Amino acid sequence: MERLLKDSYGRAIRDLRVSLTDRCNFRCFYCLPHGEPPIASKEQMLSYEEIEYVCEVFVSLGIEKLRLTGGEPMMRRDIETIIGKLGALKQKGLLDLALTTNGYFLPDRAQALKDAGLDRITISVDSLKRAVFKEMTGVDVLDRVLAGLEAAKHAGLQPIKINAVIVRGHNEDEVADFATFAREHNVKMRFIEFMPLDSGHDWSREMVVSGREIRERISERFPLIPVEVERGSETSSRYRFADGAPGEIGIIAPVTEPFCGACSRIRLTADGQIRTCLFSTVEHSLRDVVRTAASRSEVIDYIEDVVMKKEPRHYINDPTFVTPSRTMSFIGG
Ligand code: GTP
Ligand code: 5AD
Ligand code: SF4
Repeated sequence: MERLLKDSYGRAIRDLRVSLTDRCNFRCFYCLPHGEPPIASKEQMLSYEEIEYVCEVFVSLGIEKLRLTGGEPMMRRDIETIIGKLGALKQKGLLDLALTTNGYFLPDRAQALKDAGLDRITISVDSLKRAVFKEMTGVDVLDRVLAGLEAAKHAGLQPIKINAVIVRGHNEDEVADFATFAREHNVKMRFIEFMPLDSGHDWSREMVVSGREIRERISERFPLIPVEVERGSETSSRYRFADGAPGEIGIIAPVTEPFCGACSRIRLTADGQIRTCLFSTVEHSLRDVVRTAASRSEVIDYIEDVVMKKEPRHYINDPTFVTPSRTMSFIGG
Protein backbone atom coordinates (compact mmCIF):
# COMPACT_ATOMS: atom_id res chain seq x y z
CA MET A 1 0.00 0.00 0.00
CA GLU A 2 1.26 3.48 -0.82
CA ARG A 3 2.34 5.45 2.22
CA LEU A 4 1.07 8.95 2.60
CA LEU A 5 2.03 11.72 4.98
CA LYS A 6 -0.99 13.15 6.79
CA ASP A 7 -1.08 15.70 9.55
CA SER A 8 -3.36 15.69 12.57
CA TYR A 9 -5.94 17.81 10.69
CA GLY A 10 -6.16 15.29 7.86
CA ARG A 11 -4.17 17.37 5.37
CA ALA A 12 -2.13 15.28 2.95
CA ILE A 13 1.46 16.50 2.71
CA ARG A 14 2.52 16.38 -0.91
CA ASP A 15 4.98 19.26 -1.28
CA LEU A 16 8.44 19.54 0.17
CA ARG A 17 10.40 22.78 -0.12
CA VAL A 18 14.12 22.33 0.34
CA SER A 19 16.35 25.29 1.12
CA LEU A 20 19.81 24.59 -0.31
CA THR A 21 21.63 27.45 1.41
CA ASP A 22 20.85 30.35 3.72
CA ARG A 23 23.26 32.62 1.81
CA CYS A 24 22.04 35.17 -0.69
CA ASN A 25 23.70 37.72 -2.97
CA PHE A 26 20.70 40.09 -2.77
CA ARG A 27 19.50 42.19 0.18
CA CYS A 28 15.74 42.36 -0.39
CA PHE A 29 14.35 44.57 2.33
CA TYR A 30 11.33 42.27 2.83
CA CYS A 31 13.63 39.36 3.56
CA LEU A 32 17.27 39.94 4.53
CA PRO A 33 17.94 43.69 4.43
CA HIS A 34 21.07 43.74 6.55
CA GLY A 35 22.65 40.57 5.24
CA GLU A 36 23.00 38.81 8.57
CA PRO A 37 25.67 36.13 8.45
CA PRO A 38 24.45 32.65 7.60
CA ILE A 39 23.62 30.56 10.66
CA ALA A 40 24.65 27.21 9.31
CA SER A 41 28.33 26.27 9.15
CA LYS A 42 29.45 23.88 6.44
CA GLU A 43 29.29 20.87 8.79
CA GLN A 44 25.75 21.73 9.78
CA MET A 45 24.56 21.98 6.20
CA LEU A 46 23.13 18.93 4.52
CA SER A 47 25.47 17.51 1.88
CA TYR A 48 24.04 16.67 -1.50
CA GLU A 49 24.12 13.00 -0.56
CA GLU A 50 22.04 13.74 2.55
CA ILE A 51 19.61 15.85 0.54
CA GLU A 52 19.25 13.05 -1.97
CA TYR A 53 18.67 10.50 0.79
CA VAL A 54 16.04 12.46 2.71
CA CYS A 55 14.21 13.49 -0.47
CA GLU A 56 14.13 9.88 -1.59
CA VAL A 57 12.56 8.96 1.76
CA PHE A 58 10.05 11.80 1.44
CA VAL A 59 9.09 10.71 -2.07
CA SER A 60 8.54 7.18 -0.80
CA LEU A 61 6.11 8.78 1.69
CA GLY A 62 4.05 10.41 -1.05
CA ILE A 63 5.82 13.72 -1.69
CA GLU A 64 5.09 14.56 -5.34
CA LYS A 65 6.50 18.03 -5.65
CA LEU A 66 9.96 19.28 -4.70
CA ARG A 67 10.84 22.97 -4.78
CA LEU A 68 14.42 24.08 -4.26
CA THR A 69 14.78 27.43 -2.51
CA GLY A 70 17.32 29.41 -0.50
CA GLY A 71 18.64 32.01 0.39
CA GLU A 72 19.66 31.95 -3.23
CA PRO A 73 19.82 28.27 -4.20
CA MET A 74 22.11 28.94 -7.16
CA MET A 75 24.83 30.08 -4.77
CA ARG A 76 25.32 26.45 -3.98
CA ARG A 77 28.02 25.15 -6.31
CA ASP A 78 26.70 21.61 -6.40
CA ILE A 79 23.17 22.63 -7.47
CA GLU A 80 23.36 20.83 -10.81
CA THR A 81 24.45 17.65 -9.01
CA ILE A 82 21.57 18.00 -6.56
CA ILE A 83 19.08 18.54 -9.38
CA GLY A 84 20.47 15.51 -11.19
CA LYS A 85 20.03 13.31 -8.12
CA LEU A 86 16.55 14.63 -7.34
CA GLY A 87 15.47 14.40 -10.98
CA ALA A 88 16.11 10.67 -10.77
CA LEU A 89 13.33 10.46 -8.15
CA LYS A 90 10.89 10.84 -11.07
CA GLN A 91 11.27 7.07 -11.42
CA LYS A 92 9.95 6.73 -7.87
CA GLY A 93 6.88 8.93 -7.87
CA LEU A 94 8.17 12.48 -7.98
CA LEU A 95 6.05 14.52 -10.40
CA ASP A 96 7.50 18.01 -10.28
CA LEU A 97 10.95 19.50 -9.62
CA ALA A 98 11.01 23.31 -9.44
CA LEU A 99 13.36 26.08 -8.32
CA THR A 100 12.79 29.56 -6.89
CA THR A 101 15.66 31.95 -7.66
CA ASN A 102 16.48 35.65 -7.81
CA GLY A 103 17.61 35.06 -11.40
CA TYR A 104 21.09 36.53 -11.09
CA PHE A 105 22.95 33.40 -12.22
CA LEU A 106 20.48 32.36 -14.90
CA PRO A 107 22.03 34.07 -17.93
CA ASP A 108 24.97 31.64 -17.81
CA ARG A 109 23.43 28.66 -16.12
CA ALA A 110 19.78 28.22 -17.08
CA GLN A 111 20.59 25.60 -19.69
CA ALA A 112 22.74 23.61 -17.24
CA LEU A 113 19.82 23.48 -14.80
CA LYS A 114 17.51 22.21 -17.52
CA ASP A 115 20.08 19.65 -18.68
CA ALA A 116 20.48 18.44 -15.10
CA GLY A 117 16.74 17.66 -14.94
CA LEU A 118 14.97 20.75 -13.58
CA ASP A 119 11.37 21.05 -14.80
CA ARG A 120 10.51 24.68 -14.19
CA ILE A 121 11.55 27.87 -12.52
CA THR A 122 10.16 30.80 -10.54
CA ILE A 123 12.07 34.08 -10.66
CA SER A 124 11.66 36.96 -8.22
CA VAL A 125 11.28 40.35 -9.89
CA ASP A 126 9.94 43.03 -7.56
CA SER A 127 10.10 46.01 -9.87
CA LEU A 128 10.45 46.74 -13.55
CA LYS A 129 12.05 50.10 -12.81
CA ARG A 130 15.80 50.03 -12.38
CA ALA A 131 15.90 52.42 -9.40
CA VAL A 132 13.04 50.73 -7.52
CA PHE A 133 14.51 47.30 -8.18
CA LYS A 134 17.77 48.46 -6.64
CA GLU A 135 16.02 50.06 -3.71
CA MET A 136 14.01 46.88 -2.98
CA THR A 137 16.72 44.29 -3.53
CA GLY A 138 19.87 46.23 -2.65
CA VAL A 139 21.48 45.42 -6.00
CA ASP A 140 21.41 47.23 -9.33
CA VAL A 141 20.89 44.20 -11.55
CA LEU A 142 17.40 44.42 -13.10
CA ASP A 143 18.74 43.97 -16.64
CA ARG A 144 20.71 40.91 -15.68
CA VAL A 145 17.68 39.30 -14.03
CA LEU A 146 15.57 40.02 -17.12
CA ALA A 147 18.31 38.42 -19.24
CA GLY A 148 18.06 35.46 -16.85
CA LEU A 149 14.35 35.21 -17.59
CA GLU A 150 15.08 35.08 -21.32
CA ALA A 151 17.73 32.42 -20.74
CA ALA A 152 15.27 30.34 -18.71
CA LYS A 153 12.71 30.60 -21.51
CA HIS A 154 15.28 29.65 -24.08
CA ALA A 155 16.28 26.63 -22.01
CA GLY A 156 12.65 25.50 -21.82
CA LEU A 157 12.22 25.83 -18.05
CA GLN A 158 8.50 26.36 -18.50
CA PRO A 159 6.01 27.38 -17.25
CA ILE A 160 7.94 30.35 -15.92
CA LYS A 161 6.49 32.13 -12.92
CA ILE A 162 7.53 35.59 -11.77
CA ASN A 163 7.13 36.48 -8.07
CA ALA A 164 6.70 40.07 -6.95
CA VAL A 165 6.18 40.94 -3.30
CA ILE A 166 3.98 44.05 -3.38
CA VAL A 167 4.75 46.53 -0.61
CA ARG A 168 2.97 49.82 -0.01
CA GLY A 169 5.13 52.82 -0.81
CA HIS A 170 7.49 50.81 -2.98
CA ASN A 171 5.92 49.05 -5.95
CA GLU A 172 2.12 49.04 -5.66
CA ASP A 173 1.98 51.53 -8.53
CA GLU A 174 3.57 48.90 -10.80
CA VAL A 175 0.92 46.21 -10.41
CA ALA A 176 -0.79 46.92 -13.75
CA ASP A 177 2.62 47.26 -15.47
CA PHE A 178 3.50 43.80 -14.22
CA ALA A 179 0.28 42.53 -15.78
CA THR A 180 1.37 44.09 -19.09
CA PHE A 181 4.71 42.34 -18.63
CA ALA A 182 2.94 38.98 -18.11
CA ARG A 183 1.06 39.44 -21.40
CA GLU A 184 4.11 40.51 -23.38
CA HIS A 185 6.39 37.79 -22.02
CA ASN A 186 3.78 35.04 -21.68
CA VAL A 187 4.62 34.32 -18.03
CA LYS A 188 2.60 33.56 -14.93
CA MET A 189 2.90 36.72 -12.88
CA ARG A 190 2.34 36.22 -9.16
CA PHE A 191 1.66 39.06 -6.75
CA ILE A 192 2.46 38.28 -3.12
CA GLU A 193 1.29 40.04 0.01
CA PHE A 194 4.13 41.14 2.27
CA MET A 195 4.37 38.78 5.26
CA PRO A 196 6.08 39.41 8.63
CA LEU A 197 9.12 37.31 7.78
CA ASP A 198 11.68 40.08 7.24
CA SER A 199 14.84 40.00 9.33
CA GLY A 200 14.66 43.78 9.76
CA HIS A 201 11.28 43.50 11.56
CA ASP A 202 9.99 46.42 9.56
CA TRP A 203 6.74 44.71 8.58
CA SER A 204 3.59 46.58 9.42
CA ARG A 205 0.00 46.02 8.40
CA GLU A 206 -0.04 49.37 6.59
CA MET A 207 2.65 48.07 4.23
CA VAL A 208 0.51 45.11 3.12
CA VAL A 209 -1.17 45.68 -0.23
CA SER A 210 -4.15 43.32 -0.15
CA GLY A 211 -4.89 40.74 -2.81
CA ARG A 212 -8.15 42.57 -3.38
CA GLU A 213 -6.42 45.87 -4.14
CA ILE A 214 -4.02 44.06 -6.46
CA ARG A 215 -6.94 42.51 -8.35
CA GLU A 216 -8.62 45.89 -8.66
CA ARG A 217 -5.48 47.61 -9.90
CA ILE A 218 -5.07 44.99 -12.64
CA SER A 219 -8.76 44.90 -13.58
CA GLU A 220 -8.77 48.64 -14.22
CA ARG A 221 -6.39 48.04 -17.13
CA PHE A 222 -7.13 44.43 -18.09
CA PRO A 223 -10.39 42.68 -17.17
CA LEU A 224 -9.65 39.28 -15.57
CA ILE A 225 -11.47 35.97 -15.55
CA PRO A 226 -10.86 33.40 -12.79
CA VAL A 227 -9.19 30.23 -14.08
CA GLU A 228 -11.69 27.41 -13.64
CA VAL A 229 -9.64 24.84 -11.77
CA GLU A 230 -9.99 23.42 -8.33
CA ARG A 231 -7.58 25.40 -6.18
CA GLY A 232 -6.56 22.49 -3.98
CA SER A 233 -3.46 23.32 -1.98
CA GLU A 234 -2.29 26.06 -4.34
CA THR A 235 -1.00 29.29 -2.85
CA SER A 236 -2.43 31.52 -5.55
CA SER A 237 -5.83 32.34 -6.91
CA ARG A 238 -5.41 32.38 -10.66
CA TYR A 239 -6.78 34.59 -13.41
CA ARG A 240 -6.48 34.87 -17.16
CA PHE A 241 -6.97 37.92 -19.32
CA ALA A 242 -10.53 38.38 -20.57
CA ASP A 243 -9.28 39.41 -24.02
CA GLY A 244 -7.47 36.10 -24.45
CA ALA A 245 -3.95 37.56 -24.24
CA PRO A 246 -1.16 35.19 -23.20
CA GLY A 247 0.16 35.12 -19.65
CA GLU A 248 -1.58 34.52 -16.35
CA ILE A 249 -2.09 36.33 -13.07
CA GLY A 250 -1.74 34.66 -9.67
CA ILE A 251 -2.53 36.42 -6.42
CA ILE A 252 -1.00 35.05 -3.23
CA ALA A 253 -2.72 36.65 -0.27
CA PRO A 254 -1.63 34.81 2.89
CA VAL A 255 -2.35 37.80 5.13
CA THR A 256 -5.85 38.85 4.01
CA GLU A 257 -7.06 35.57 2.46
CA PRO A 258 -5.20 32.75 4.27
CA PHE A 259 -5.05 29.38 2.54
CA CYS A 260 -3.82 27.25 5.43
CA GLY A 261 -6.84 24.94 5.48
CA ALA A 262 -5.66 23.16 2.35
CA CYS A 263 -1.92 23.42 3.04
CA SER A 264 0.13 20.52 1.69
CA ARG A 265 3.58 21.97 2.39
CA ILE A 266 6.45 21.24 4.70
CA ARG A 267 9.97 22.64 4.55
CA LEU A 268 13.51 21.53 5.08
CA THR A 269 16.12 24.17 5.96
CA ALA A 270 19.66 24.08 4.60
CA ASP A 271 20.86 22.79 7.96
CA GLY A 272 18.41 19.92 7.90
CA GLN A 273 15.60 21.16 10.14
CA ILE A 274 12.02 20.31 9.25
CA ARG A 275 9.64 23.26 9.51
CA THR A 276 6.01 22.25 9.42
CA CYS A 277 4.80 25.79 8.66
CA LEU A 278 6.32 28.96 7.24
CA PHE A 279 5.51 30.47 10.63
CA SER A 280 6.67 27.61 12.85
CA THR A 281 8.35 28.68 16.06
CA VAL A 282 9.93 25.26 16.56
CA GLU A 283 12.01 23.11 14.23
CA HIS A 284 12.78 19.41 14.14
CA SER A 285 16.30 18.22 13.41
CA LEU A 286 16.00 15.60 10.73
CA ARG A 287 19.73 16.10 10.21
CA ASP A 288 20.56 14.76 13.67
CA VAL A 289 18.29 11.79 13.18
CA VAL A 290 19.87 10.99 9.82
CA ARG A 291 23.42 11.49 11.09
CA THR A 292 23.10 9.31 14.14
CA ALA A 293 22.95 6.41 11.74
CA ALA A 294 19.31 5.77 12.32
CA SER A 295 17.76 3.06 10.18
CA ARG A 296 15.46 4.07 7.35
CA SER A 297 12.41 3.05 9.34
CA GLU A 298 13.50 5.27 12.25
CA VAL A 299 13.86 8.18 9.83
CA ILE A 300 10.37 7.47 8.48
CA ASP A 301 8.86 7.25 11.97
CA TYR A 302 10.49 10.55 12.86
CA ILE A 303 9.13 12.29 9.75
CA GLU A 304 5.64 10.91 10.33
CA ASP A 305 5.69 12.12 13.95
CA VAL A 306 6.89 15.58 12.98
CA VAL A 307 4.23 15.95 10.28
CA MET A 308 1.56 15.20 12.90
CA LYS A 309 2.72 18.36 14.68
CA LYS A 310 1.99 20.62 11.74
CA GLU A 311 0.28 23.82 12.83
CA PRO A 312 -3.34 24.32 11.78
CA ARG A 313 -2.65 27.77 10.38
CA HIS A 314 -0.61 30.90 10.77
CA TYR A 315 -1.50 33.50 13.38
CA ILE A 316 -0.46 36.69 11.57
CA ASN A 317 -3.86 38.21 12.24
CA ASP A 318 -4.02 37.27 15.94
CA PRO A 319 -2.97 39.77 18.61
CA THR A 320 -0.66 37.14 20.10
CA PHE A 321 1.30 36.65 16.84
CA VAL A 322 5.04 36.11 17.27
CA THR A 323 7.37 36.31 14.28
CA PRO A 324 9.33 33.12 13.70
CA SER A 325 12.96 33.34 14.78
CA ARG A 326 14.20 32.45 11.32
CA THR A 327 13.47 34.73 8.43
CA MET A 328 12.66 33.97 4.83
CA SER A 329 16.33 33.67 3.84
CA PHE A 330 16.56 30.56 6.00
CA ILE A 331 13.12 29.17 5.30
CA GLY A 332 13.09 29.80 1.57
CA GLY A 333 9.51 30.97 0.98
P1 GTP B 1 3.98 26.40 -7.47
O1 GTP B 1 4.56 25.07 -7.30
O2 GTP B 1 4.50 27.02 -8.71
O3 GTP B 1 2.51 26.46 -7.33
O4 GTP B 1 4.63 27.22 -6.33
P2 GTP B 1 4.12 28.02 -5.10
O5 GTP B 1 2.74 28.53 -5.30
O6 GTP B 1 4.41 27.26 -3.91
O7 GTP B 1 4.96 29.27 -5.31
P3 GTP B 1 6.32 29.76 -4.78
O8 GTP B 1 7.15 28.68 -4.29
O9 GTP B 1 6.88 30.62 -5.85
O10 GTP B 1 5.82 30.62 -3.60
C1 GTP B 1 5.44 31.91 -3.83
C2 GTP B 1 5.36 32.64 -2.52
O11 GTP B 1 4.18 32.29 -1.86
C3 GTP B 1 6.45 32.32 -1.55
O12 GTP B 1 7.61 33.04 -1.84
C4 GTP B 1 5.81 32.77 -0.28
O13 GTP B 1 5.89 34.17 -0.20
C5 GTP B 1 4.39 32.36 -0.49
N1 GTP B 1 4.16 31.03 0.06
C6 GTP B 1 4.55 29.85 -0.48
N2 GTP B 1 4.16 28.84 0.30
C7 GTP B 1 3.50 29.38 1.34
C8 GTP B 1 2.88 28.85 2.49
O14 GTP B 1 2.83 27.64 2.70
N3 GTP B 1 2.32 29.72 3.35
C9 GTP B 1 2.33 31.03 3.16
N4 GTP B 1 1.76 31.79 4.09
N5 GTP B 1 2.93 31.59 2.10
C10 GTP B 1 3.50 30.79 1.20
N1 5AD C 1 6.72 38.28 2.41
C1 5AD C 1 6.28 37.62 1.31
N2 5AD C 1 7.07 36.92 0.49
C2 5AD C 1 8.36 36.90 0.79
N3 5AD C 1 9.40 36.31 0.17
C3 5AD C 1 10.52 36.56 0.87
N4 5AD C 1 10.26 37.32 1.92
C4 5AD C 1 8.91 37.56 1.90
C5 5AD C 1 8.02 38.27 2.75
N5 5AD C 1 8.44 38.91 3.84
C6 5AD C 1 9.26 35.49 -1.02
C7 5AD C 1 9.39 36.21 -2.32
C8 5AD C 1 10.55 35.62 -3.00
C9 5AD C 1 10.62 34.27 -2.35
C10 5AD C 1 11.97 33.65 -2.37
O1 5AD C 1 10.24 34.48 -1.03
O2 5AD C 1 8.31 35.81 -3.11
O3 5AD C 1 10.30 35.55 -4.37
FE1 SF4 D 1 0.67 26.18 5.41
FE2 SF4 D 1 1.67 27.50 7.47
FE3 SF4 D 1 1.66 28.56 5.01
FE4 SF4 D 1 -0.59 28.30 6.42
S1 SF4 D 1 1.16 29.62 6.90
S2 SF4 D 1 -0.31 27.83 4.25
S3 SF4 D 1 -0.23 26.35 7.47
S4 SF4 D 1 2.79 26.77 5.70
